[in-house]
Amino acid sequence: MCGIVGCFSREGCYEKLLTVLQKLEYRGYDSAGVALVAGGALAVRKKKGAVANLCGAPLAGAAGIGHTRWATHGKPSDENAHPHVAGKFALVHNGILENFAVLKEELTKNGEAFSSETDSEVIVKLIARAYKGDFFAAVAAACSRLEGSYAIAVLCEDFPEEIVCAKNKSPLLAGAGRGAAFVCSDIPALEGEVRYVCPVEDGEFVHIRGEEICFCTAGGACLPKVFCRLAEKERAPVGASGSRMEAEIGQIPHGLEKTLGWLRACDFAPAARALRGAGRIFTVACGTAHHAALAFGALLSREARIPVFCEAASEFRYGDPLIGAGDVLVAVSQSGETADTLEAARLAKARGAYLIAVTNVEQSTLARLADFPLRTLAGAEIAVAATKSYNCQLLCLYFLAAQTVFYKKAAFPAWFSALGRAAEACERAFSCFSEVFSLAKRLQTARAMSFIGRGTDRFTAAEGALKVREIAYVFAESCPAGELKHGTLALVEEGFPVLAVATDRATVQKTANSLAEAKARGAFTCLFSPYKEYAGAADFFCPLPALPAPLMPLVSVVPLQAFACRLCLLRGFDPDRPRNLAKSVTVE
Ligand code: M6R
Repeated sequence: MCGIVGCFSREGCYEKLLTVLQKLEYRGYDSAGVALVAGGALAVRKKKGAVANLCGAPLAGAAGIGHTRWATHGKPSDENAHPHVAGKFALVHNGILENFAVLKEELTKNGEAFSSETDSEVIVKLIARAYKGDFFAAVAAACSRLEGSYAIAVLCEDFPEEIVCAKNKSPLLAGAGRGAAFVCSDIPALEGEVRYVCPVEDGEFVHIRGEEICFCTAGGACLPKVFCRLAEKERAPVGASGSRMEAEIGQIPHGLEKTLGWLRACDFAPAARALRGAGRIFTVACGTAHHAALAFGALLSREARIPVFCEAASEFRYGDPLIGAGDVLVAVSQSGETADTLEAARLAKARGAYLIAVTNVEQSTLARLADFPLRTLAGAEIAVAATKSYNCQLLCLYFLAAQTVFYKKAAFPAWFSALGRAAEACERAFSCFSEVFSLAKRLQTARAMSFIGRGTDRFTAAEGALKVREIAYVFAESCPAGELKHGTLALVEEGFPVLAVATDRATVQKTANSLAEAKARGAFTCLFSPYKEYAGAADFFCPLPALPAPLMPLVSVVPLQAFACRLCLLRGFDPDRPRNLAKSVTVE
């Protein structure tokens, strides 16, 4: 969740660190800090809150490290902000040490005093105690004591042009720029700074000495590595409201077009064969990606008549799943770095399953782990709330489902060609935004709301509710429309908002009936549907552009994303940085 960066550059090292840190902020914004080494001394600047709080004259030095924090151990505060310092060393850490209590007790018994509540401070103390003049050896010795996840970057006063880094289960990559060497938690933050990147694998170390980047084993042996050229820097625009989320919703059609272009050029044969012949098919994902996986599972099982088991990754990994050789796991993750999804994927692979991964980051850990990596080309998604990546995940997964059907029945499903109209349909959905914004105004002070839907619409409802909870801080739940009267209806009182998504001709009347039942008890009802003849079935009606029913989740979510974003803005919050959350959940 936290973001770490290390940089060597004789020119503007401090500025470079801050530039990257600003781009890493979506990984956490509880505190920020930097340390540089110059003239045989460390200089540290760290503060609770955003990177912007690190104001002041640039710190001198050619080697530096930086951190944005998403608090795990200890509240957001100046003291708990990274870098942490011990003796001649400064350290930034992303991850969670599982044996930190044992190590802390041992260190305390040996006379060490701690100035923070973090698990990370333990690591820098271990390094300082292990130091006998060999910087790399001290870091390697400390790492041999660590259990849990970590990506660390360390500075030492005695080595003003060096940074030593290590990684286990937390993302880290190295990047080479003109006259500069970097390590960083993720690729998008390095765009514009480096030209070549190379991921660091678990158990590997990176030793930056001047501009030279050396990958090594714990024993210091050099590992040969191939760096890949980084794609051209993408623009990260903001919407009219100044929010990235709004801009990212606007980029949905473009992302869909790019993703479709990539999918059309992709040879699906190996993945589709694996799916067709699979004993069992599972999906794992978290949050929004899980909603995309659920929609895929429902579609694939209906079209291909195959059972698909969809599980939240955090449940899958501890649920002793029935997965084994001959089975297929489809793991979905925008970042490709989500800890639970990665562990679920590793578990499935260890048991012999075939892994298909859908990620938005080509070099991500999940993509590299997969037998068959699939890409979404949504472009960098910076806002914490996932929007365009969700639409692109759906497109990618539906394409995969269609290929599987083709390999099974020698014919594509009837809706397959309509995937080419998804981008245009989403663009047309933008035209209902003014109505959606007035709905947000109407519900600005609502304290709770329910989203309902049938079939795949229930996953869109769940995604709409998640968006509202996540950024507008309104309690929003979702349930299958038919379940309303089995409990949720008890919540309905005068003015209680019930928002229904009904995109399937076969069930729209049933959902309208559920709304009528809610309305009879005083609910304020809203209907999102392509069937305009149902406009009178709710207090508020949002007309949706039509695609074949199986594809409607691609487009029906768009007004819900825009609704949540507007509700958030009207309530005075920042949609890009919801409290307590971070974009990439790389810890459990
Ligand atoms: O990077 P991932 O797709 O694996 O992230 C999974 C979830 O953390 C993510 O979708 C989260 O639910 C979003 N903030 C929701 O908007």
